[in-house]
Amino acid sequence: MDRTEASGKTASEGFETLAVHGGDLEDPFRALTSPIYMTSTYTFPGVEEMSSVLAGERPGYVYSRAGNPTVGAMEKLVARLEGGESGVAFASGMGAIAAVLLHFAKSRLPLIVSRHLYTGTRHFVSGMLEPLGILVKVADLRVNGEGLGNFRELLRAGAGGVFCETPSNPSLDIVDLSAVGALCTEYGVPLAVDNTFPSPALQNPLRHGATIVVHSATKYLGGHGDLLGGVAVGRAEAIGKIATVESPLLGATLSPMNAWLILRGIKTLALRMEAHTVRATALAQFLKEQPMVLDVRYPGLSSRPGHEVVLRQMSGAGGMLSVAFDGAVRARRFMDALRVIRIGVSLGDPSSLVEHPATMSHRGYSKEQRELMGVPDGLVRLSVGLESPDDLLRDVEGALRSL
Ligand SMILES: Cc1ncc(COP(=O)(O)O)c(C=O)c1O
Repeated sequence: MDRTEASGKTASEGFETLAVHGGDLEDPFRALTSPIYMTSTYTFPGVEEMSSVLAGERPGYVYSRAGNPTVGAMEKLVARLEGGESGVAFASGMGAIAAVLLHFAKSRLPLIVSRHLYTGTRHFVSGMLEPLGILVKVADLRVNGEGLGNFRELLRAGAGGVFCETPSNPSLDIVDLSAVGALCTEYGVPLAVDNTFPSPALQNPLRHGATIVVHSATKYLGGHGDLLGGVAVGRAEAIGKIATVESPLLGATLSPMNAWLILRGIKTLALRMEAHTVRATALAQFLKEQPMVLDVRYPGLSSRPGHEVVLRQMSGAGGMLSVAFDGAVRARRFMDALRVIRIGVSLGDPSSLVEHPATMSHRGYSKEQRELMGVPDGLVRLSVGLESPDDLLRDVEGALRSL
């Protein structure tokens, strides 16, 4: 039981209040911060007590691969922040994505995935699902894409689940969640949305028709670049099945220590997302005026396709942006010239990080495939951190000048 429930109060007055107090565990010493249950197993006073917990007749824990109080607090908190009923945590975002896609695949119907997805998700499809004989169809779900007519056809033909991401990594394309969610509801197909980029502070896909939301908690939820974690939240029925089958059987179990760090990170999530957004907005505005920059992809720019959808489904544009230069050489020279912003593949940290998808995260794809995925050779992805806005602007300005 969490402390807010124990005291009979609800912590659902506002997002920030819930984020600060909603993950607290009851503690006999009334410690301000929650205990961390670093245990692999749990003991019982007698066989009967253990049997009744195993049978689900009374609450409790048996083994930490199937459940742990600290991990449970984090699952419940993210579920509440997203407007979901329950959650299940994983050792990484990929753990959550793998479990959800395998859960969908058990329908034995084809799966539909968005063309504009994090590369790890795409690699899971081509490296795991397809070799297992699972049919996966790719749909362009962007607001500026082919339109949703083709998607409707795919749904009509029957599907076990749909998986998409908005804004997408690294192309920053936007999916209209309400439109996609309405079609999925019409055809009775569950929709899973990777909400890693906006975090629950800026977007709640469950409110737009999604059945399941997944996060790489490694990113904004943890928020400090010091852990790996993942979580899937949503309706109790779907999450309950994943929590009792895919999660314990895949074994990608989140450690209690990392769950605690994620709970700590979430306490400042709303503030951090605001600060990331302020800095990313300033950089995007600056970059779009620079002659050497071919394109700036940031959901907060009114010139971007899907901006009206962003205004409807996001409460802020977030900290991720991509900048297109004329070719890979210029892109990489720009990155090498940065001093405050560091080169690295993760995102959502206090440190600003920059990567070159064509030669880093997307190096396994041909140029044609990358173009289709919205990743030209000159694209640079920037995770705008929490350094002083002036230092970030000066860094980018200096790097551009050196080109
Ligand atoms: C959008 C998105 N989803 C999922 C993941 C996978 O998360 P993890 O690295 O925690 O497995 C990432 C990682 O970069 C990501 O950017």
